[in-house]
Amino acid sequence: MSPIRPSILSLVHNGIGRVSSLGLGQQDIIPLWFGETDLVTPAFIREAAKRALDDGATFYNHARGMMALRQALRDYHKRTAGVDVGVERISVPGAATLAVVTALQCLIETGDNVVMVSPIWPSIFQAAQAVGAELRFARLEEDWHGTPARWRLDLDKLFAQCDARTKAIFVCSPGNPTGWTASRAEQQAILDFARKRGIAIISDEVYGTLVYDGSTHAPSFLQIADPEDDLFVINSFSKPWAMTGWRIGWLVHPPSLDEPMDVICIANNTGPATFAQYGALAALSAEGDRFRSEMLERCRAGRDIVQKFLDGHNRIRWIKPDGAFYGFLQVEGLTDSFAYARDLVLNHRVGVSPGSAFGLDDEVGNDSYLRICFAQDPERLREGLSRIEQATAHR
Ligand SMILES: Cc1ncc(COP(=O)(O)O)c(C=O)c1O
Repeated sequence: MSPIRPSILSLVHNGIGRVSSLGLGQQDIIPLWFGETDLVTPAFIREAAKRALDDGATFYNHARGMMALRQALRDYHKRTAGVDVGVERISVPGAATLAVVTALQCLIETGDNVVMVSPIWPSIFQAAQAVGAELRFARLEEDWHGTPARWRLDLDKLFAQCDARTKAIFVCSPGNPTGWTASRAEQQAILDFARKRGIAIISDEVYGTLVYDGSTHAPSFLQIADPEDDLFVINSFSKPWAMTGWRIGWLVHPPSLDEPMDVICIANNTGPATFAQYGALAALSAEGDRFRSEMLERCRAGRDIVQKFLDGHNRIRWIKPDGAFYGFLQVEGLTDSFAYARDLVLNHRVGVSPGSAFGLDDEVGNDSYLRICFAQDPERLREGLSRIEQATAHR
């Protein structure tokens, strides 16, 4: 019998990977499938990393991130979310994806389960599968009749999924793919429940500053939790500063994990690339704040373009996202989002992610959706939408 864990052998490519492999890198395709803008990382960040390389920053560095970087992250949390998070609670293990894995490593033993608010980005639940967790989902519900239409979290449904083997509730807000943003009251209810039941919260806040209501940050669990609550907050440089290829993000955790985190971060990757840390440090400057505002305006413009497109459309609709940079588009009559996304790439030269990717195969509801990223050049976004439009008209 193979010693390899069945939970590893059962892992298969998710729908985003399978669709994008059909056309990745082909110049005539408009790629709206990944969670990234088409902007190159701003020059002042690239220059900082180049300078670091030229100055010889090519060695191992602190495995949880340089102290200057962790201090700058502390300041960032203060000015965006208004919370003071001690540096002993901040670790920079590598990308946010690795921060998710690190949080799960702290919590999961075989047979434990994680309850996730879905639809949710597949790499998150695949990471949970890889560490041996059983997956449970509490799907947000569409309220199409609300003014405006919105995604609604049924807290009773979420809590009913939890049992004695539940180690974590995973909430991504603002959400990928929906843009749903948890309210302070919803977060408080989840925190109260989790405290009572001895369940940790993993809060993915990588889109925390990409919100359209004029605030500097979406409600954060850090604003209501005590330091020693079993709370892990995931964050990333990827989205606000157009740094997806840099593979750097961070994790806020309880202070009691100060020393264990040193060890886990050494064991996992011995930290992010040293020169990337210098780039990240530059991103946390006033210039970085200005870039973040520009990025938010670019996303707002992208969101407006999608809204305008949908206003004139009777077969595609969305729940306008409160945050993040995705359009989760529901197409009338669509029952196989993977086949449709495949057709869009191969025959219409536009790359989208199939809705089915954002949950397990048997989860009802996602297969009538496609996800696009609207953090794009306006002309290319319009062209991408018009290709989707042409394909839909022929169905
Ligand atoms: C919700 C969410 N968390 C984490 C990540 C990963 O971020 P990183 O690029 O830092 O690994 C993504 C990327 O799409 C995401 O959407």
